[in-house]
Amino acid sequence: MKLLSSLAVLAVLFGFKSSEKPYFTAPSNTDIETLISQMSIEEKVGQTCQITLDAIHKTDDKGQALVPAQIDKAKLKEALETYHVGSVLNVGWHTLDRAEWKSIMTDIHAPYLQKEQNIPILYGIDAIHGVNYTVGGTLFPQEIGLAATWNPELARQMGEVTAYECRASGIPWNFSPVLDLGRQPLWSRHFETLGEDPVLGTQMGVALVEGYQGKGAKVDEFHAAACLKHFVGYSASFTGRDRTPAFIPEKYMQELYFPAFKAAVEKGALTLMINSGVVNGIPGHANYQLLTQTLKKDWGFKGFVVSDWEDFIMLHTVHRTAPSIAEAAIQAFNAGVDMSMVPSNPQYKTYCQDMVKAVKEGKISMERLDDAVRRILYVKNQLGLFGNPLPDMSKYPLFGSQTFKNIAKQAALESITLLKNETQTLPLKGSQRILVAGPGAASINMLNGAWSHTWQGLDTSFNTKGVLNIYQALKYQFPVASISYAKGVELYMEKDFEASRFDGLDSYKKALKKNDVIVICLGELPSTEKPGDIRSLQLDEKQKELVRLAKAAKKKVVLVLLEARPRIINDIEPLCDAIVQAYLPGDQGGVALAELLTGQADFSGRLPYTYPRYDGVIEFYDHPGSVARAKSGQFTAYNPQWDFGFGLSYHAAVVKNVSFKSKNENTGAFVVKVSIENPNKTSVQAVVPIYLSDLYASTTPENKRLIGFQKVTLAAGENKTIEFAFDASVLKRISSDGKWRAEKGAFEIICDGNKLTFELFNDLLF
Ligand code: BGC
Repeated sequence: MKLLSSLAVLAVLFGFKSSEKPYFTAPSNTDIETLISQMSIEEKVGQTCQITLDAIHKTDDKGQALVPAQIDKAKLKEALETYHVGSVLNVGWHTLDRAEWKSIMTDIHAPYLQKEQNIPILYGIDAIHGVNYTVGGTLFPQEIGLAATWNPELARQMGEVTAYECRASGIPWNFSPVLDLGRQPLWSRHFETLGEDPVLGTQMGVALVEGYQGKGAKVDEFHAAACLKHFVGYSASFTGRDRTPAFIPEKYMQELYFPAFKAAVEKGALTLMINSGVVNGIPGHANYQLLTQTLKKDWGFKGFVVSDWEDFIMLHTVHRTAPSIAEAAIQAFNAGVDMSMVPSNPQYKTYCQDMVKAVKEGKISMERLDDAVRRILYVKNQLGLFGNPLPDMSKYPLFGSQTFKNIAKQAALESITLLKNETQTLPLKGSQRILVAGPGAASINMLNGAWSHTWQGLDTSFNTKGVLNIYQALKYQFPVASISYAKGVELYMEKDFEASRFDGLDSYKKALKKNDVIVICLGELPSTEKPGDIRSLQLDEKQKELVRLAKAAKKKVVLVLLEARPRIINDIEPLCDAIVQAYLPGDQGGVALAELLTGQADFSGRLPYTYPRYDGVIEFYDHPGSVARAKSGQFTAYNPQWDFGFGLSYHAAVVKNVSFKSKNENTGAFVVKVSIENPNKTSVQAVVPIYLSDLYASTTPENKRLIGFQKVTLAAGENKTIEFAFDASVLKRISSDGKWRAEKGAFEIICDGNKLTFELFNDLLF
């Protein structure tokens, strides 16, 4: 009775009949509570349900999505009116143009704008290296390349451009960034990570979130909600295969896998997606401790948690922690999943029915349901969707503009990493006859990798018009030289795995004779998730044969790697005069490579991971204990192909002096100053990393670990002193009692070969 009468009062206050639903255009927290109090169980459950576009798409007789993309209004009506669905994601199987997006979005938002619905729909997409599902969008390097720039400002700019172009496509929610730590190079999604280091990953990841969401208290119509993926440990699978179990001790969870997520949550990231795999025996989607205790209670995450694709269903079908799909939905929801990417039709209908039944039977409490709905409505409100779910899509004049392409090119330029350059092989010279060869030489798809116009990124028919591949870009940027092309090897998919065959090998051999320098572009076909699983890290043999043949012909060999993950090349490395790691540099990668290879721009990319030398020995730069053993001569424990942070430049800056000053002996705060000089007649960009080594501690310390870095630009002849201010929290590690502690004793600061030792006199607990 009490409830009924207070609702009647509210109805009078807000000017709607009690039979009508409140329609707020910029709801306050109280309004949101009013909304929730007016919703039926069915409506609340609907908010937690996310469907894929295919579920409401017009199809032909065979179920194939129609082109141009069109909403099936009957299916939409059913999803909204009967099931009250709150969110839609994805694209059919390929990229759409902005007119198609406009038509889709107009249809989807029409019921809300016509006040038939009172809660707007939230649309999400994987714009993971630019708006890869909108024709003409700006494609950046994949995250692994972005990390190699060591330039958080570029990450912020990439985020800003991507969010703008998402909004220009009518989409306010981006399933990015991936904050999984790249410590399993076999993993098919290694390229989607920001590398192996938690400090680099955190700074770059937080910058991306800031770029996506903007700096305001609310997200304006030029920004989009970020989605932190995939909480947590997805990247650490033991087998290296996608979505297989990981084992992560609590210490490493705290020190390595949590930091980027925690920092991004503190930055205000609005949503978070869950790891589809199993960590320490518990599926990510059933992990109450991680989702509710750690994320929501301990870290104070205010946004909502979304499942990954069909993942509550997997709790029953794959992980077998739930005896039925209905039980699985309850398990995931009670663990802390607020929205389920169900996402297909008719599965979503069953999900809604099962969930309503579970609430009615008390298997899901109303309090928990309200909490999920509150979080979802909070995010919709932060995005300004109430009242304006579809800002005018014509007011985005910079979509696909040269200004945006220049930022993407800058990101590619700063990411590409020079790993070897003997006898000044690079830059290429105008007097040389240059052969550009290999499967990557004339492929736009190999520049971009997966999540580019299609999920796997293999289809060439949707590539952005006017984009130059490496061969075309070299010809264009370097007209003075003689430049020709021979493919030599073709990559293709065979029974789910990448395979190769020689393609025009005779022409390649003939072309070798006529040229001085052979730029061989090798790597991988685009792939991600399960289709990207591999059985060995070795680079494909036929591709390596192109290097052997070029060397046997006594030519200068420049190896360009287009890799989603570091592939083993220890046998061909000695045969190469220069080696360039391009990662997956995006649409502007061809032009950026051409500028770098010809010396029109300088390299400033640095490896965001330890490049392995052997297939069976995967190690990381901070690996505890290994250096001492390597020194003893008994073992060569740490012996990667290239070290984390490694990268050459044509013109380098020189670190002149490193100084340490304790700011406060009691709190442990300190400052490191680095004087750096550019002795060159040209400006340079330098990455200055600061590493720390705890010399003795109760748990075996890392050899060294990154605690800060800056990327600086120095004009010709310029001297600069850069300052790093640290508080004592950078000294903390998980000690033997499982607590965060800076343990007293000696520490070493390491910067460019300079080592400074200081002492902490008391333990500090955090
Ligand atoms: C991937 C996610 C992605 C989602 C939606 C899943 O298969 O694991 O990273 O955001 O699909 O497309």
